[in-house]
Amino acid sequence: MDLYIGIDLGTSAVKLLLVEAGGRVVREVTREYPLSFPHPGWSEQRPEDWWDAVRSGVPELLSGADAGSVRGIGLGGQMHGLVALDEKDNVIRPAILWNDGRTAREVDYLNDVVGRETLSRCTANIAFAGFTAPKLLWMRENEPENFKKIAKIMLPKDYLVYKLTGVHATDYSDASGMLLLDVEHKRWSGEMLDICGVSEAQLPRLYESWQGVGTLKAGAAAALGLPESVLVCAGAGDNAAAAVGTGTVGAGGCNISLGTSGTVFISSDRFGVDPHNALHSFAHADGGFHLMGCMLSAASCNKWWMDGILGDADYAGEQAKIASDKLGRNHVFFLPYLMGERSPINDTDARGVFVGLTMDTSREDMTQAVLEGVAFAIRDSLEVARGLGIKIPRSNICGGGAKSPLWRRILANVLDLPLDMAATEQGPGYGGAILAMVGCGKYASVQEACRALITVSPAAEPEPELAARYEERYGQFRRIYPAMKALFPKLK
Ligand code: XUL
Repeated sequence: MDLYIGIDLGTSAVKLLLVEAGGRVVREVTREYPLSFPHPGWSEQRPEDWWDAVRSGVPELLSGADAGSVRGIGLGGQMHGLVALDEKDNVIRPAILWNDGRTAREVDYLNDVVGRETLSRCTANIAFAGFTAPKLLWMRENEPENFKKIAKIMLPKDYLVYKLTGVHATDYSDASGMLLLDVEHKRWSGEMLDICGVSEAQLPRLYESWQGVGTLKAGAAAALGLPESVLVCAGAGDNAAAAVGTGTVGAGGCNISLGTSGTVFISSDRFGVDPHNALHSFAHADGGFHLMGCMLSAASCNKWWMDGILGDADYAGEQAKIASDKLGRNHVFFLPYLMGERSPINDTDARGVFVGLTMDTSREDMTQAVLEGVAFAIRDSLEVARGLGIKIPRSNICGGGAKSPLWRRILANVLDLPLDMAATEQGPGYGGAILAMVGCGKYASVQEACRALITVSPAAEPEPELAARYEERYGQFRRIYPAMKALFPKLK
């Protein structure tokens, strides 16, 4: 049977999936790599580490399988990261990632001097610190020698595609997050390229996510143990790929991802813009479009709390101590802004906060507050969408955090939204494999592939009494950030 490889280039690890043509996941391999925070609020990774992880992970993925049956590779990758290569294809500096907050000045320049209207007209979006364009401006200003050396600009997963095929390519969903793409017309915005001092020759060629960009280079094929005939598809930003993996395609779908970041992803067959630009307006991997709110620290807040603060790896054990009758009644609140925040507040200075501690606050109350704070912040983005009149009757949910039944229950009640989960919940990697199947001609479209391969079933339902309690708590949560906003810049 034909086989496909899905690659999810995440922030903490790359996850590789070997998937049969019928959709069964045969094997998965995860390879971690370091993430560095060279200054508070900065976030970097070495692209070479991503490639090393893939080069060592794929042979393990293929062990015991017939590598000759692999037809295609599809990728989903962390978005927005700036990868810059010189004319000899060397990486110029570590990639500046999606959750990096160093570009506050450049963001202000873009939004206030160039102007939100111009940005929105050219790209359908305004500037956020994690987007790629402000990073180019930062590099031009702070590392002019490096900036001058740039021959190729690409996004994280595009670096892998380049190593695999030698083709400098990207796809519309990921390119949307650069603030260089005219999203509506799916072409680079000349005006934005001028503003950032880059040329089209430095940018990748644009593809739809499922389109093949090339086959494996001989060296890559030999290193991975694959035939050179394997087709590599352009792939997608990880949220678009995860949406494909949960069947959130076409008009009117919603997918919530509780990964390192937390996102609300609303799929549409038509281009649309949030008039306030609080939600991103991006292309989707199915050929359509989506609106998306992205919080920078979601499951990573719980990881920080469990691994970093409590030093306890037993996540389920910790959550088992939270009594059911405590839900919706917690006196502790948590603002999850450990890396600043993107949607909807767009504030690089914001920081994490526990509020409401008393002498009888327990460790479990604080754990609960972390889970709830993330759910409230997800609701902030959902409220923006609801405020635009978008009807969201139910949502899919995916990502590491979605594996927790307690967190799903909290979310369903905080959002007052029924949540569904795909039977093969494998995140962006599964979406990547589906894109590869479409690229190889097994299915006529991404929608058709999703219809054939994905079934979802209910994972959490709102309970009226609990949802009402959380409604009240959310009203309180919403007042904390505005009350603290002016303080954050002074906390440095
Ligand atoms: C989306 C975003 C994050 C990253 C995480 O805009 O920045 O979801 O893609 O990998």
